[in-house]
Amino acid sequence: MQQRSLRFPTGFLWGTASSSYQCEGGSTNNQWYRWEQQGRILSGEACGQAANWWEEAEADFERAEQLENNALRLSLEWSRIEPAEGQWDQAAIERYRAMLLDLRQRHMTPVVTLHHFTEPLWFAERDGFARASSVRYFVRYVAFVVRQLGDLCSFWLTLNEPNVYAFQGYLRGDFPPGEQHLLRTFIVLRNIMQGHVAAFYAIRDLQPQAQIGYCLHYRLFDPLNPFSPLDHGAARVQEQFFNWSVLQAAESGRFTFPAGALLPPIKGAAGARDYHGVNYYTRELVRFDASVPAEAFGVRLVKPNTMRNDPGLDASFGEIYPVGLYRVLREVYRRTRGNKPLYVTENGFSDVQDTRRPRALLEHLAQLHRAIRAGIPVQGYFHWSLVDNFEWNNGWYVRFGLIEIDAQTQERTPRRSASMFGEICRANAITEEIVARYAPEAMERIFRSRSDAVPQMQPDLKKT
Ligand code: FCB
Repeated sequence: MQQRSLRFPTGFLWGTASSSYQCEGGSTNNQWYRWEQQGRILSGEACGQAANWWEEAEADFERAEQLENNALRLSLEWSRIEPAEGQWDQAAIERYRAMLLDLRQRHMTPVVTLHHFTEPLWFAERDGFARASSVRYFVRYVAFVVRQLGDLCSFWLTLNEPNVYAFQGYLRGDFPPGEQHLLRTFIVLRNIMQGHVAAFYAIRDLQPQAQIGYCLHYRLFDPLNPFSPLDHGAARVQEQFFNWSVLQAAESGRFTFPAGALLPPIKGAAGARDYHGVNYYTRELVRFDASVPAEAFGVRLVKPNTMRNDPGLDASFGEIYPVGLYRVLREVYRRTRGNKPLYVTENGFSDVQDTRRPRALLEHLAQLHRAIRAGIPVQGYFHWSLVDNFEWNNGWYVRFGLIEIDAQTQERTPRRSASMFGEICRANAITEEIVARYAPEAMERIFRSRSDAVPQMQPDLKKT
């Protein structure tokens, strides 16, 4: 009998994603280092050596090459490149040049993020993106980098998850600078998105052939009780707030959410991207609760009796919900009217024992394939992450790596998922044989993903 398989398009990018602070080690000149020093990391740890990439990233790049990845996403540490305002560190540039060259020699396309949550202390001390002048500093750094590294990289993400950066740092207060202020949150979002637009045009001028975009973190919010209009309403408000208000502002230049509507528009936003970067991890269920106005009258819960991430020290990652990847891709595509290709720039699972990751990864990729079958132009997938790394406030407490790291000894131990991911990348397909070896229990779900139930779209959105 012929084997079933889900084949991906020729030229599909397969890789992993990472960030400078989480992997490099020795980052002592950014606001996350100060956060650590203030004892704000929930696990009480310091990032320290992280995954030691400043010294030995190439050893892990070799591991990625062995997994037959043809791309790798990493970020640059602005605080190393411009340690003091207007001062450029050529040694840092040389180190990044060596990393990018190494990737290219291994035939992996470097995908480089220019801002992944961290920024230099001097910039943070001037109120970071809360000030409009931040845009000028950011663009100057971006232009410097592109002049220095543009011969080695032409695939850029200006920003990682500006929605998480702004909401966690300025509304929830659990990322630096630890503020809780709705209007400042939207000022920061507006300025950082203006930074993206300005960076987009600066890169376009310097490197007309470059691929330039940014990525958002998309979460799904579904009503706890599907028959309750109140639960529906609360879920809708949360999803609009976290995902769609930001995407819409990035697309149109205007924030529609009440606080955002007070702000000046993002100039030049329309058209300022070559692709849409999608980071997707989880969904939450929402129950209406009149006693929590600050949470838009919705309490968020993890669906019981489902596949789950290892719990962290905060509530970031709960349910593992593969259909969500399809739903998010479809919704981003629809809301952007299919104007650009999509990349899954992050997706992953915290699972130290690797008992759920193989199945979870297969089921997410099957949903990605389903999106492609539905005509959504998804051109690449970046798994978070190649190796365990320092997971922000959770420190080493949660483990997202395909490859385990012993944080004390830096010893690497590949998890089963690593070899599975390698086989998928090599085949550019999910085959029955791969599923049979790594997650036989998921066989029918993988090859029947076409018929998975997908909730109806929100009624008012159908019109757009
Ligand atoms: C994302 C971040 C990334 C990593 C993963 C697990 O929101 O962009 O740095 O922390 O979550």
